[in-house]
Amino acid sequence: MSRYASILITGASGEIGHGLIDRLSGGPRPIITLDLNPLASEVAKKVRKEFVGSILDTQMLERINAEYEVDEVYHLAALLSTRSEFSPALAHKVNVEGTLNLLEFAQREGESHGRPVTFFYPSSIAAYGFPTLREKTEAGRVKEDEHLQPTTMYGANKLYCEHLGRYYGRHYKQLATDKLGKIDFRCIRFSGLISALTVPSGGTSDYAPEMIHAAAKGEPYSCFVRPDARIPFMAMPDAVEAVLKLMHAPREKLSRVVYNIGAFAPTAEEVERVVREAFPNAAVSTKVDGKRQSIIDSWPGDVNDGAAVRDWGHAPRYDFAAAFRDYLIPTIRKRYA
Ligand code: SER
Repeated sequence: MSRYASILITGASGEIGHGLIDRLSGGPRPIITLDLNPLASEVAKKVRKEFVGSILDTQMLERINAEYEVDEVYHLAALLSTRSEFSPALAHKVNVEGTLNLLEFAQREGESHGRPVTFFYPSSIAAYGFPTLREKTEAGRVKEDEHLQPTTMYGANKLYCEHLGRYYGRHYKQLATDKLGKIDFRCIRFSGLISALTVPSGGTSDYAPEMIHAAAKGEPYSCFVRPDARIPFMAMPDAVEAVLKLMHAPREKLSRVVYNIGAFAPTAEEVERVVREAFPNAAVSTKVDGKRQSIIDSWPGDVNDGAAVRDWGHAPRYDFAAAFRDYLIPTIRKRYA
């Protein structure tokens, strides 16, 4: 067994994984990763050991358990919301059974090395659900415990896994006398995330990042939601910073298991406007996909993140203007130059 307390990141080759590995590499804890796809070579260089495989492969998880002492888990692997609507049963398998496997893994790790395992779980604004656009508009900035009637398989999976994490963290085997919960479960409900370095796949908030990246590449883009569609978004560096802040906050400061975090909440039209200002030749049109539009209409227009601000100092660096001016546009320009 490795003598070092390690970090395990699942779904490491995805968007959040890239940013997290960048920030955590060079720190005191070696990183091990698990993803279906091999890591890009510049990312692979930053990790101690890369496992290529599925979170549904319990034998692989047992191997990692036998070989490494893991103190922190970032469980990022999931099928995103649009993709999950095409294969709901598969989404349930990956998103729910996969998360259960990781929680069991973390519990066994804690039992074997005797320390609590801090477990980060990325939930989503998809956990919320509004039956009508009018109710969404009237609700304004939603609090964590309101409007939790998801309309997607992905949202239902996320909401249930929040509960699973709370169970493993606070009530594990409560009727058994010989078992103590070993997991310190912490969760953020992310809004749509926009990275200058990677493009998401299979999400419903993808229209914003896709529009920006297409404009930077000089490619036409057909936006799949109406111009007035509004959900919260956040620049990827702020999302990664929030994860690290929450993971390193003293446990006694945390009044909740699940936190909203906000930054800015533009309409698709407002995103298009700043994209056109930066790339005057951008060819953006709109062709509404009714199903994806209805998912966006069911998600909140913005979130109340007062608890995250109070408990662990959530403070995004980038508002809407700064996200584009100082992060997205310059970094994307360089990327496609
Ligand atoms: N951004 C994700 C998606 O669109 C939601 O968490 O699926």
